[in-house]
Amino acid sequence: MWDDLHALAKTAERRRIEDLFAENDKRAGEFSLTAAGLLFDYSKTQIDEQIRAALIALTDAAGLDARRTAMFTGAAINETEGRAVLHTALRNLDGGAVHVDGEDVMPEVLETLDRMEALAREVRGSDVTDVVNIGIGGSDLGPAMAYTALAPYCDGPRCHFVSNVDGADIADTLRGLDPETTLFIVASKTFTTIETMTNARTARAWLMDKGVSTDGRFVALSSNKAAAGEWGIPESRTFGFADWVGGRYSMWGPIGLSLMIAIGPEGFRAFLRGGQEMDRHFETALPHQNMPVLLALVGMWHNQVLGHATRAVLPYDNRLARLPAYLQQLEMESNGKRVSMDGADLSVNSGPVVWGEPGTNGQHAFYQLIHQGTRIVPCEFMVAAKGHEPDLRHHHDLLVANCLAQSEALMRGRSLDEARAIMADKGAEGDELERQARHRVFPGNRPSTTLIYPQLTPEILGKIVALYEHRVFVEGVILGINSFDQWGVELGKELASSLGPVVTGEASAEGKDGSTRQLVEFVHLHRDR
Ligand code: F6P
Repeated sequence: MWDDLHALAKTAERRRIEDLFAENDKRAGEFSLTAAGLLFDYSKTQIDEQIRAALIALTDAAGLDARRTAMFTGAAINETEGRAVLHTALRNLDGGAVHVDGEDVMPEVLETLDRMEALAREVRGSDVTDVVNIGIGGSDLGPAMAYTALAPYCDGPRCHFVSNVDGADIADTLRGLDPETTLFIVASKTFTTIETMTNARTARAWLMDKGVSTDGRFVALSSNKAAAGEWGIPESRTFGFADWVGGRYSMWGPIGLSLMIAIGPEGFRAFLRGGQEMDRHFETALPHQNMPVLLALVGMWHNQVLGHATRAVLPYDNRLARLPAYLQQLEMESNGKRVSMDGADLSVNSGPVVWGEPGTNGQHAFYQLIHQGTRIVPCEFMVAAKGHEPDLRHHHDLLVANCLAQSEALMRGRSLDEARAIMADKGAEGDELERQARHRVFPGNRPSTTLIYPQLTPEILGKIVALYEHRVFVEGVILGINSFDQWGVELGKELASSLGPVVTGEASAEGKDGSTRQLVEFVHLHRDR
């Protein structure tokens, strides 16, 4: 399979994407698809019919249909942890029963949603002015990303997100907050994460320092209700979720509470509905009409087949500023693995490095490399047809024009002759013209895709997030890996806990490598000055 694709790649790389459009005036329609109101255009890539068929063959070979059914029906597909993967149940608003080990999980999911809504209404109707979500990774990135994304829908208390164990994070957040009107949400699936528990303790000390009772000031979101109870948060203020909700897939349930408080229960339900609509599409559409499948396959063509090691996610939507960070965890923690489910080494590369920034800011920073650097960076553009600022339509039109211009420029490039003509117009001549012209050449033929949606509403955001979740799933199934564990984060955590006492001076650095000892010495020299 991979050999077929590598052979196809050899021919494809020599072809210009522009020529594919010239050869087929229906290319745009044939290499794009609409689902749940979103349009995904992958026509500005080297993919042709033969390549697409070979990519789709990967899904058959990997048994995607069976794996997808297994996921949606609660089989323990997270095999290294022996767990089901059912974040889709959290948005299964009007769906039927979902069984895990013979038990329907939906009554509990819906009951928790009701309890969350009751609390959100209570908080929104109270004197709480600020909500601080304390969490990290999946217990932070989803709600933080969505809170920024849905700013026009936020009509509740202000939300803040503290994640880093760096005291600067909580100190900067607490400065200016009123302890009498601030609510803290301790969001941690395990309720043991060192960063989160340290920040939560600091928040509690801050309230006590200000002489404010901590009663009713904390809410816990966790799978570990017992630990939340021991920490002092009563069950009535604790929202639990099962271990079949992975941290980076958890914003649909209790971890989304801060978002629900910000946009209101109706807005949050719209977000869930959007996710559910994408689930239905993913479950039922044929592979070549299936958006998560195609999004994954286009990515794999660029990464596993052509060898492009990174992918830029470029939302022309300022409110999606945190989306690249959110996707970094979703994609890289899920598919950054080196062995397949059975422990064998992967025969192809795992997922790419995902990075990005909102356009147009990126244009004035790193696009230089994307256009003229020696490495090819496949770009994933995103843009809404309509903004939320009716008085500033001209801004939005400019934004859209910039987004479309970038994908066009990446594809077309600028030839040496065109560059020479530009220099000649400027009055350059001879060697100087030639030299200057070479700097103005754009090789072009650089692939990009565009995801375009009507407007960034809660429902559309739900669709986008679910789309990316399923993309990760498809990629993971084809790679044969477990997208739902994260053993690669463990070693650093273990070493950090053994280094804690070394940094404070309570334990010796003996036995550590020379570099670590030298760094510790530097810290000791300066930390108490
Ligand atoms: O360190 C990685 C990780 O386990 C993520 O997978 C998770 O989202 C994050 O830490 C936070 O974990 P928790 O919600 O248990 O605090």
